[in-house]
Amino acid sequence: MQSRMMDLIESAPSEARNLYQKYNMEEEIDRIAYHYEVDSDFFKIITGGEWNHYSCCMWEEGSSLTQAQERKLDEFARMMNLKPGMHILDVGCGWGGPLVYLCQKYKVTGHGITISPMAIPVAEARAKKYNAQCTFEVVHWQELRSVKQFDAIYSDEVIVHFNDLDGFFRKASQLLKTGGIMVNKELHFRHSKHKHAIDKLSQHINKVYAYTGNYRTLRDELDLLDNNSFQLEEILDIPISHYNKTINEHWLKNLNAHRTMLTTMTSEKHVQDFKLYLKGICRIFTAKVFGLHIVSAKKS
Ligand SMILES: C[S@@+](CC[C@H](N)C(=O)[O-])C[C@H]1O[C@@H](n2cnc3c(N)ncnc32)[C@H](O)[C@@H]1O
Repeated sequence: MQSRMMDLIESAPSEARNLYQKYNMEEEIDRIAYHYEVDSDFFKIITGGEWNHYSCCMWEEGSSLTQAQERKLDEFARMMNLKPGMHILDVGCGWGGPLVYLCQKYKVTGHGITISPMAIPVAEARAKKYNAQCTFEVVHWQELRSVKQFDAIYSDEVIVHFNDLDGFFRKASQLLKTGGIMVNKELHFRHSKHKHAIDKLSQHINKVYAYTGNYRTLRDELDLLDNNSFQLEEILDIPISHYNKTINEHWLKNLNAHRTMLTTMTSEKHVQDFKLYLKGICRIFTAKVFGLHIVSAKKS
């Protein structure tokens, strides 16, 4: 972990700990690295299942973790209206699991982008294992250039890191074919009063993200889509209990079961902070501060 960033975070004045901090691109990349640039096995072990989602899964009675990951991706596929031969973009592709699953199951080709270079070898090895037609690239969304327009774009719990969501939707519109679909899954504040009433627990969670949190209301997100000429297609409300199950019955269990190994990869403090952060998120969910939605919209 970079010590410059560690110092910046530990000594951040109180106003720098609030949501909606604006950074230049280099600083944003450094801050994202603070959370994501650890041994890839760290996130692989904690998230588990075949596809290693670092995002909420969708549960059905008796489903395994892998089935719950796939269930969510099948919803993404339905909302993007995937058909064989389409070309799709995963913004914030994590360790490649979601894109590889979609490409091999729905016979589409894909491109995944991330600003976390350590995730790329894991993603590429996975694509090879499944013979999936997809590529991965380390690039900030602002810098992405594509010779080919996409049929669909999706992101899963990534846009929280984007201060300039308006700019992201503008960029997505340029990258999409007319009539193409964009799908975003994200947590949303249930009321705008939460945006500025950030308590100690929320500050701790934002600190784990190196103060890159930009949680919004669903209404804010819909307004920005509308500003960028996206026509709303569907809003899927995922009960927040799905997130509690993902974290309590899997991520925390995995962390506790492999604590020694995770400590070797990082440090005792890192693992302890991570555990507190996971428990903190669950406490906020129980207090009904957040809702969880997948929003799809068409480029018109
Ligand atoms: C919470 S993880 C979600 C990963 C994946 N979508 C999943 O569901 O497993 C957030 C991801 O967003 C990526 N990310 C954050 N800011 C980004 C940016 N400006 N451009 C591209 N990717 C970004 C991170 O590198 C990380 O892979």
